[in-house]
Amino acid sequence: MIPICDLQQQYQQLKPQIDAAMQAVCADGKYILGPNVQALEKELAAYCDCAHAAGVANGTDALHLALRALRIGPGDEVITTPFTFVATTEAIGIVGATPVFVDIDPQTFNMDVNKLEAAITPRTKCIMPVHLYGQPCDMDPLMAIAKKHNLSVVEDCCQAIGATYKGRKVGSFGDAGCISFFPSKNLGCFGDGGMVVANNKEVFERVEMLRRHGGKVKYHHCELGLNSRLDELQAAIVRIKFQHLVDWSNARHRHAMRYNRLLNGVTGVITPSEIRDVRCVYHQYTIRVENRDAVSKHLTAAGIGNMVYYPVPLHQQEVHADLGYKLGSFPISEEAAAHCLSLPMFPELTEAQQDEVVAKLKDAVAATSTLRKSA
Ligand SMILES: Cc1ncc(COP(=O)(O)O)c(C=O)c1O
Repeated sequence: MIPICDLQQQYQQLKPQIDAAMQAVCADGKYILGPNVQALEKELAAYCDCAHAAGVANGTDALHLALRALRIGPGDEVITTPFTFVATTEAIGIVGATPVFVDIDPQTFNMDVNKLEAAITPRTKCIMPVHLYGQPCDMDPLMAIAKKHNLSVVEDCCQAIGATYKGRKVGSFGDAGCISFFPSKNLGCFGDGGMVVANNKEVFERVEMLRRHGGKVKYHHCELGLNSRLDELQAAIVRIKFQHLVDWSNARHRHAMRYNRLLNGVTGVITPSEIRDVRCVYHQYTIRVENRDAVSKHLTAAGIGNMVYYPVPLHQQEVHADLGYKLGSFPISEEAAAHCLSLPMFPELTEAQQDEVVAKLKDAVAATSTLRKSA
């Protein structure tokens, strides 16, 4: 069995350091916004080319607090894509704003910036690009459009920590970048966790205030905030893992390039492509494949982990029925949802495991195309 992501292996490798860090937190007794959260905020701000960072409870809160910090709320529109995890639009909905979708680029699964300007209305306040699967969006044209229309930008970096666009880290372009430490993320903790990184000082200060009950001074509250602090134990774990992030991202990239080579020319399979001047961190390695559901079933039966991220684009989800979109509204997203398939991708993946994934994928593709021909 080759899993799509192997978290136990990572823990076993770092067990002595992680266990010691957790025990130190227990002994230290500073359990809320303690020294590990503060140190991690400094380390990740610097790593993400940002001046500030605030640890929060999860990536969804990072997104929603960034929007709140920008005073986005009812009556406002936030532009994003329908081909993302629901947390992106959940954050928009939580602040009372309305998501407006722009279709994705067929090569990258990210927002097609050529279609962005047409979605802007007098109510648009913010663009929320999602760096999906670890690939940066095309930020230069996106930021130029934001500037032209005086829109704020909140980057959903939940899948892309460490990815660069023209040498600069994602999260440093907009007013805020939002990170998730969900266990399977490239830098994951042992539960939920997240962070807002920002070069916009006001946004950072407001997130920092809102995450702890809306007060700058203890027991003096100026706004209704919430309790959304990164846990000290999780911060201690993330700090240990962070020391390996660059190596892990390089390994992911290496595995992706090798998958590309091994799958080159396989009929019915389209490998992912990177845009110019980016460094993709391959949170997922996602192909498009004919007969996707049948191929997925074959792979699962053959012991190869695989996942569909995501089978239903957000404009077709029940939760967003009120937005009035319909089948065909975003054809590229719909096509991606029908054909995308993510293969095992984690830093410790071996060449032998990759060879097996590719061999089983070729078998699955051949078996399902025979099925199709004989049907
Ligand atoms: C694109 C995207 N946005 C937001 C989130 C939300 O992060 P979290 O699960 O930490 O709330 C995730 C992760 O699940 C994600 O993949």
